[in-house]
Amino acid sequence: MKHLLTVTDLDAATATALLDTSDRLRQALLGREVRKLPTLRGRTVITMFYEDSTRTRVSFEIAGKWMSADTVNVSAKGSSVSKGESLRDTSLTLSAMGADCVIVRHPASGAAHRLAAWADKDRESTGTHTSIVNAGDGTHEHPTQALLDAATLRDRLGSVAGRRIGIVGDVLHSRVARSNVFLLATLGAEVVLIAPPTLLPVGVAEWPCRVSHEIDAELPGLDAVMMLRVQAERMTGGFFPSSREYAVAYGLSDARAAMLPEHGVVLHPGPMVRGMEIAPSVADSARAAILAQVRNGVHVRMAVLYHLLAGAPE
Ligand code: NCD
Repeated sequence: MKHLLTVTDLDAATATALLDTSDRLRQALLGREVRKLPTLRGRTVITMFYEDSTRTRVSFEIAGKWMSADTVNVSAKGSSVSKGESLRDTSLTLSAMGADCVIVRHPASGAAHRLAAWADKDRESTGTHTSIVNAGDGTHEHPTQALLDAATLRDRLGSVAGRRIGIVGDVLHSRVARSNVFLLATLGAEVVLIAPPTLLPVGVAEWPCRVSHEIDAELPGLDAVMMLRVQAERMTGGFFPSSREYAVAYGLSDARAAMLPEHGVVLHPGPMVRGMEIAPSVADSARAAILAQVRNGVHVRMAVLYHLLAGAPE
């Protein structure tokens, strides 16, 4: 694996290998007083975030640190980006400083692919080798989120294959939804997107999933339901009448959570808007695996860095 840009580059065997590595790393750290493995000593990992983030940026940083890499965080605010530097110049500058891996979040779909193309070209001319990880590009993809969601589903349900997973809400603006649909399908799950027609992207009919507008009809048949945040920052028009109406039509209330089968798991990538897409009581219930997702996020990102920078495990 050279870069991690999209889940569509992962076949079932590669995705499963990443999840297995994540499990092994979690196991290796269990009960250790000092949570540090020497695996990536001497490697430099840079996070470059042009959009706000709590979970993704911090967990990549922790993942690097727990594997003894030198991690450096760059944000658009406070870097030369605010002086007008281009994405290309910023990324080549970081490569020139010896970055083995640049983890990028950017509001433009395709930004990580561009960085990877520049990194590969730079490699031909200078011999530097920088791996690029997509930590969210616009409304396109968020591969490590889908991997950590799959890891959490595996933990809670025993397997992903053969399970039915519902993804509810603002699919149109959600890179989390797209990455999950493709990865979960690759891993053999059946995926149902549940959203109002205004929040579904053009072309969804070609995705490996089914589409529904009726959450109440779907919940009893789901092994897990993933609630999406309404991405207000990406919305230009009115996609639904009001947040109150959205909550009534698609929010996961207590009554709705009770419609899931007993083993039904509730996921949310965060950040949650409690009371909008999910009731606080559901978010804090035993069904919810939301903090387990966050914990798995660190181990999955360790696994990704490991596969990119240390080579695949024997
Ligand atoms: C998501 C994102 O940024 O795409 N958050 C995350 O990485 N956990 C989802 C969101 O912002 O709603």
